[in-house]
Amino acid sequence: MIDFHCHLLQGIDDGSRSVETSINILERSREQGVRTIIATPHFYASEMSIDRFLEKRQAAYEELAAEVRGGGRHFIGDEGHSDGLPKLLLGAEVAFFDNMSVTERVGDLTIQGSNILMVEMPFVDWQESHLREIEKLSSRYTVIIAHIERFMNRRNKRRIKELIEMSRTLPIRIQVNAEAFDDRKLRRKLIKMFASGEAHMLGSDCHGMNRRPPNLPIGMDALRSALGEDFLLRMNERNEELLRGLI
Ligand SMILES: [Fe+2]
Repeated sequence: MIDFHCHLLQGIDDGSRSVETSINILERSREQGVRTIIATPHFYASEMSIDRFLEKRQAAYEELAAEVRGGGRHFIGDEGHSDGLPKLLLGAEVAFFDNMSVTERVGDLTIQGSNILMVEMPFVDWQESHLREIEKLSSRYTVIIAHIERFMNRRNKRRIKELIEMSRTLPIRIQVNAEAFDDRKLRRKLIKMFASGEAHMLGSDCHGMNRRPPNLPIGMDALRSALGEDFLLRMNERNEELLRGLI
């Protein structure tokens, strides 16, 4: 399985604070059946330049990779290894900002140089302009909307519906946090969304080993028991296809 949303890179945002924690996250995730993790540190345009963000992300990755490989371990996909710690792809959870679609360098925040961009929508009532911005972004990128469930309130209902409509014809994909399936009422709704193709991928949104730990199986188990193992396998195949060339 692929964890599409994870704050495991140490020292960048409010996620992992140490290399040790990051390694524990990798190990726990692997035990849970995760083979690929997309590292998605928060990016806030108002707080940091893209260059500084990329520098910090690269340094954190290199420190972590050195600790893994220096300790005699390896990542899945390292030369000659088909098993090991989950393969890491470098991405970002890009907080929505005005005019992001015309900000050329947003392209540097995609997942590992691909055209896939994860966007965290604003935590205010969505406006028409927010959707138009996503529409424009989707003409250049495949846009993954992070943890849709966090925006699913009554006031956003119409806009969410419109976003889901857009995702039927535009390269827009919807990510759900695994822990959302713990909420019984939400769980039913989310299962329906996955079953009907309105939601596409899971993320742990892991921030550490204690607070928001690796938990992808919460979502995997819910989908498996409601929709069957085959559904989960097909979902995973589609997501591997999305990441073709990267994993
Ligand atoms: Fe996140």
